[in-house]
Amino acid sequence: MYYDPDKNNHGLPHNPFKSCVIPRPIGWISTISQDGIHNLAPFSQFQNLTFDPPYVMFAANQNTKGMRKDTVINIEKTGEFVYNMVTWELREAMNITASEVPFEIDEFELAGLTKAPSVKVKPARVSESPIHFECIHYQTIRIPGNGLMGSVDVIIGRVVMIHIKDEVIGPDGRLDILRIRPVARLGYYDYTTVDSLFQMVIPGENELLLTGLEGAIKKHNT
Ligand SMILES: Cc1cc2nc3c(=O)[nH]c(=O)nc-3n(C[C@H](O)[C@H](O)[C@H](O)COP(=O)(O)O)c2cc1C
Repeated sequence: MYYDPDKNNHGLPHNPFKSCVIPRPIGWISTISQDGIHNLAPFSQFQNLTFDPPYVMFAANQNTKGMRKDTVINIEKTGEFVYNMVTWELREAMNITASEVPFEIDEFELAGLTKAPSVKVKPARVSESPIHFECIHYQTIRIPGNGLMGSVDVIIGRVVMIHIKDEVIGPDGRLDILRIRPVARLGYYDYTTVDSLFQMVIPGENELLLTGLEGAIKKHNT
């Protein structure tokens, strides 16, 4: 089958679009308002953009009232945010922080989470999460969309500090992803977790190409 997204003539009981780009990592984004109110919300339209220096991006639609989301308002006012990784143990807390609550509500408190101070930015880190990136706002790209919620604010941030809990670094010095068990979004109300790994390298002898694949900054700079 094929269908035109402008017409949504897929003929299926549920829109399949979100199931076609999967799995999507969840950027659990913490921010702070100018008045010092902490905010936390998940965004699965999230990705790293590059690695040297590292940048990340996420796309926030408008809220159900057609207004900019609190996360976007805070980032544009303060210029800072933190990415926190969502794990299997944190799935319920993450879900609570997706509630559309008044600006004055601190979603860390709402979800029973602990704040850990950041090093270079003001927004707090989710202490229970094993990985955090402190980020500085680089740019917002606004893409028009349909209806109340369709328009999107694409936030790009430069990663200025990376935190990894020692206990998720394995004896081989690599992140123990199967222990971390990150959660990712699928379509519908579905999620998945990372429960298996396999390895593959690009064929040929091009060492620089492999350096990019691995994200080995020192090697590609020398
Ligand atoms: C797993 C998950 C992923 C989500 N991904 C997005 C997303 O990519 N973009 C978006 O606009 N909203 C997304 N949401 C909804 C927001 O988290 C929700 O609108 C939240 O209330 C925004 O909070 P804020 O107004 O404090 O920024 C997602 C919700 C969940 C549970």
